[in-house]
Amino acid sequence: MRIATNKLSDLYEFYKTELCPIYDEEELYAIFELVCEHYLGYTKTDTRLKFQENLNQSDVLNIYDTAKALKTGAPVQYILGEAYFYNLKFRVNPSTLIPRPETEELVDLIINELKSYNSSLITILDIGTGSGCIPITLKKHLPHSKVTGIDISEKALEVAKFNAIKNNVDVKFLKQDILSDLNSSLITQNLSLIVSNPPYVLQSEAKQMDARVLDHEPHLALFVNDHDPIVFYKRIIDLCSSYLEEKGILFFEMNPLYANDVKNYANDSKIFNFIEILNDMSGKQRFLKAQKK
Ligand SMILES: C[S@@+](CC[C@H](N)C(=O)[O-])C[C@H]1O[C@@H](n2cnc3c(N)ncnc32)[C@H](O)[C@@H]1O
Repeated sequence: MRIATNKLSDLYEFYKTELCPIYDEEELYAIFELVCEHYLGYTKTDTRLKFQENLNQSDVLNIYDTAKALKTGAPVQYILGEAYFYNLKFRVNPSTLIPRPETEELVDLIINELKSYNSSLITILDIGTGSGCIPITLKKHLPHSKVTGIDISEKALEVAKFNAIKNNVDVKFLKQDILSDLNSSLITQNLSLIVSNPPYVLQSEAKQMDARVLDHEPHLALFVNDHDPIVFYKRIIDLCSSYLEEKGILFFEMNPLYANDVKNYANDSKIFNFIEILNDMSGKQRFLKAQKK
C-alpha cells in the first residue's frame, strides 16, 4: 500500500491497514505515539494536534520502515531501541527484558520505603538487573545511596552500563551468576536493601504466552525450570543472612502463582521479623517485602 500524502494522519491510516490484524486500535495508537516521540520528538499532545501537518520525506520513511518492522511482531521498544521506565529513558535490545509496569510499581514501593532514610547510608543491590532500570532509577531518586546491579548476562550488563551513563548516575554493574558462589570481595556485605525481579515464568507457561514476548524477549530473563519455580528466591533469601544488614529490607517481584511459597520460605528462614505480600495494580500477589531481624 502507498501512503496518500506526507501527513501524519495518512501515516496512521497506513499503520492501521498494515498492523490492525496484529494490534488492537488502542494499542496501535499508543505505539504510534512512541514512534512519533522517537522520530519527531512529539509529545502525545503534539501527535494529536499535528495530525494534519506534512512531514519531511526522511521522517515519513523512518515511520514507514518502523511499520514494516512492527509487522514482524517485534516489540516497538526493540525496534526503536528504547523504553520508558519511571519517566526515564532506557536503551533496550533483545539481550534485555523490556521493563514492565509492575516493575515500576516495585521501584515506587522502594522509593517510598526509603524516603525517610538517610540516603548517604543506603547500600542497594539489584539481582538480575537486565537493562539496569531498577538500580538506575533508585540511584536517580536516592542520589547519595551506593547502588550495585548484577546479572549473569554480559550483553545485558553492557546495556545497563550505557543506561547509567545516559541517565547520568553512578551505579556499579558486575557479572555474577547468583546461583553460584558470590564474589564477596566485590559485593558489599551489610546491604541496606536487596531487590530482585528474577526470571519467574515457568517453562510450562510458555505456550500461553504472547508470541511477541516469546519470540523476541530473552528466555534467560523470563524462564525458570518447572521443577524449582522459586529457585532464585530461595537463593536470595539464603544470601540475606550474610549480605543484608540488621533491619535491612528485601523486595521481590514474583509470579503470583508462587507468592505464598516464597513467603513461606522466607518465614521458615527465621531471619526476618516482618514479611508481607503486596498486590500489583491488577490485584495480583506480585511483590514481597521483608525486613531482617
Ligand atoms: C526478569 S529479568 C529482570 C530484568 C530487570 N531487572 C527488569 O526488571 O526489567 C531477570 C534478569 O535476571 C538475569 N538472570 C538470569 N539468570 C541469572 C543468574 N543465574 N544470575 C544472575 N542473573 C540472572 C537475566 O539475565 C535478566 O536480566
